[in-house]
Amino acid sequence: MDAELGLDTSVDTPLLRRICRYLSERSPQPTVAVEGLTHVVIYVNPAFARFVGRERKDLVGRPFAETVPESEGNGCQALLDRVFRTGLHETLAEQEHRHTQSVPVYWSYAVWAILGADERPAGVMIQVTDATETAVFRSQAAAVNEALVLSSVRQHELMEETGALNARLREAQHLLEGRVAERTGELAAANAALQAEIGSRETAEVDRRELLRLLATAQEDERRRIARDLHDQMGQLVTALGLGLKTLEATTPDPSPARLQLPQLRELTDRIGREVHQLARDLRPTALDDLGLLTALSNYADDWAERSGIEIDFQSVGWGTGRLPQAVETALYRVVQETLTNVIRHSGARRVSLVLQLSPGLVTAVVEDDGVGFDAESVAAPAWAGGRVGLLGIRERLTLLGGTLVIESVPGRGTTVIARVPLPTRGTEDREG
Ligand SMILES: Nc1ncnc2c1ncn2[C@@H]1O[C@H](COP(=O)(O)OP(=O)(O)O)[C@@H](O)[C@H]1O
Ligand SMILES: [Mg+2]
Repeated sequence: MDAELGLDTSVDTPLLRRICRYLSERSPQPTVAVEGLTHVVIYVNPAFARFVGRERKDLVGRPFAETVPESEGNGCQALLDRVFRTGLHETLAEQEHRHTQSVPVYWSYAVWAILGADERPAGVMIQVTDATETAVFRSQAAAVNEALVLSSVRQHELMEETGALNARLREAQHLLEGRVAERTGELAAANAALQAEIGSRETAEVDRRELLRLLATAQEDERRRIARDLHDQMGQLVTALGLGLKTLEATTPDPSPARLQLPQLRELTDRIGREVHQLARDLRPTALDDLGLLTALSNYADDWAERSGIEIDFQSVGWGTGRLPQAVETALYRVVQETLTNVIRHSGARRVSLVLQLSPGLVTAVVEDDGVGFDAESVAAPAWAGGRVGLLGIRERLTLLGGTLVIESVPGRGTTVIARVPLPTRGTEDREG
């Protein structure tokens, strides 16, 4: 009995051989035994035949390398030689085999020496295990590991790049903030300069307006003075002259050459008187100061119709007995005067309508003609040039009073001029400057 081998040596050899044979034939472990020197297969168990997909009879008696061609290149043949020489058990793990399958399979080899009757190696036994799952798993794990390493390297690189980008971003932001501050400073300076410019222009505009107002007032005062002088002094002188001529006519012998001349001289004197009167009225009608805008314009309209031969329809709406501020009355008088003069000069109209309307807080003058009309947009005559009060001049004058001038005109369809001036809401009785 060899207890170490788990073998009862008293049992006869044929029985032992049957036991061994039984075990190896039933074993699920692919096993093959080869002759030590030639590696010719001397035994193959069914598991090995199944494993390589061959009949056992085609394997026994053939070289091991014929069944497993990879054994030549993967060091298995050398291993068999070594084990045969040393008698020591060795293994060869996860060798790739491709010859039968399209996808590689992996075999692990365990190799023992088979001792002969003289206790010396006579052959070699090879057990094969399919290690494909382990190998695939290992290679997948390696790939995953590699990917992980790569990704951590990439992550590191990315972090570095991010850091660099952040630094550049901060730098750019810093630069930008600097520029913005610089530009803001420039803009603030420009703005201040602009404000100063606007301020000085506003002052200049205020000065200009004030000057215009003074000019208009001075002009009106002067016209009033000259008109009064003409009317009072020149008028009286002409009247006196007329009376003198009348007396002379009564006392001059008739007929005589002097007596013949006298009616003509009286006629001339009357004409001078009328001209002086007309001149004074044109300059500044006393009615405007003494009786108010409505009467002054009514007189002017009658006079104008007679002079121009154009029919005028004068209407007043909402007018009481009160007076408007003098500046407003004068401005509106000049507006109507200029507009009606334009009608004679430019329109070729046959009929004109003049409406003067007074409503709470507003006075409106509307002059409408049925003349040739014009392109109101394109009119830009220089205001106040040579003392002339054109449309621009009267617009300016109305603006000084907070009023407006609207010109509605279509060539061929007549012209409507509308002047509006706001009034102090206290009433119209008070007279100002
Ligand atoms: N009622 C009107 N009908 C036709 N054209 C007019 C009328 N009023 C003004 N215009 C046109 O507008 C121009 C400007 O008028 P205005 O400023 O009073 O200057 P002026 O009378 O000295 O020409 C006139 O030259 C004329 O062509
Ligand atoms: Mg004019």
